[in-house]
Amino acid sequence: MIVVLTLAGAAVGQIVPGDPDSYPSVSIVNTPHNLNNYPGVSIPGNQVCLPCHTPHNALKSGEENVLWNHQETTQTFTMYMATAGQPEGPSKMCLSCHDGVTAIDNYGSVTTGSITITGSANLGTDLSNDHPIGIAYPTNEPTEYKNPSTFAPGIGGGPGVRLVTINGADRVECTSCHNVHNNGLGNFLRVPVQESYICLQCHIK
Ligand code: HEC
Ligand code: HEC
Ligand code: HEC
Ligand code: HEC
Repeated sequence: MIVVLTLAGAAVGQIVPGDPDSYPSVSIVNTPHNLNNYPGVSIPGNQVCLPCHTPHNALKSGEENVLWNHQETTQTFTMYMATAGQPEGPSKMCLSCHDGVTAIDNYGSVTTGSITITGSANLGTDLSNDHPIGIAYPTNEPTEYKNPSTFAPGIGGGPGVRLVTINGADRVECTSCHNVHNNGLGNFLRVPVQESYICLQCHIK
């Protein structure tokens, strides 16, 4: 018997850094950020957004309000740069699961969850061995750091690497490099890691 396998839609082309048309787009529904995919976690009605967002009675208010629904980390972090304060804004949101301490199933009114991230995606509370965050982008060093206006587009021609404005400063945060909602490039990256393209968005090397 001859079995013909047709991998419909699975033919992924090569990712070409600098050509956003070659960047695959993968909805959050089919990624590790659909917590329903995580062993032991069951979200009512398979509502993928719910562990992170709620339409009403959100936890965060003000500038950083993205209708946040997840328990926030209470850990004290060791930062890469002495000048950085404790994580704020989107970085604090990421670390509310990626600290390896805060239960990923603690969201909404639930505080009795017990499932934590255990593998390499657990950054822990010592961030001194991770790329610096919580720092202002050094626009005053034009021979070392590129002008943000030159940051190239990301998936689907949307925003690529970007700075996050917190307390009036344009800063590098987790979401400068990551897009929580799209895993087309792997590791939820905003632009490809191939050829260190993502690094060369900012660093002149
Ligand atoms: C694992 C956590 C997580 C999940 C799940 C998640 N988000 Fe988000 N979302 C975030 C974080 C963190 C931010 C703020 C940082 C940023 O802007 O990227 C955000 C920001 C947003 C924003 C405002 C800024 C933007 O990017 O447009 C919208 C709208 C949004 N999310 C919609 C959704 C919807 C709709 C879903 C479900 C289909 C969803 N999110 C699922 C973490 C999540
Ligand atoms: C509600 C909990 C939650 C939040 C909030 C969250 N994540 Fe995650 N994330 C997870 C889980 C669970 C995994 C899967 C971990 C595993 O498989 O061990 C994951 C995996 C990842 C991965 C690895 C993806 C892969 O393909 O293996 C990256 C990168 C990541 N997250 C970045 C972020 C960033 C950046 C933020 C904030 C903008 C964030 N996450 C916010 C729960 C979360
Ligand atoms: C300067 C860019 C940059 C910043 C800032 C950044 N990351 Fe990443 N992150 C990356 C890259 C690039 C990878 C993929 C590394 C690889 O392919 O080996 C990655 C990988 C990851 C992974 C997957 C690790 C694994 O081995 O499973 C997680 C989780 C993650 N990042 C979370 C975060 C969180 C949370 C923050 C903020 C505290 C953050 N990242 C800040 C660039 C960044
Ligand atoms: C969004 C812009 C941005 C991206 C993308 C980025 N960096 Fe950085 N990087 C910075 C900034 C800003 C600093 C800290 C500058 C300062 O104030 O000294 C930094 C610091 C560093 C340092 C530490 C330098 C020191 O003096 O301790 C290293 C190493 C580094 N980055 C490597 C990388 C690598 C590797 C990548 C790609 C995986 C990357 N960066 C991606 C902006 C970026």
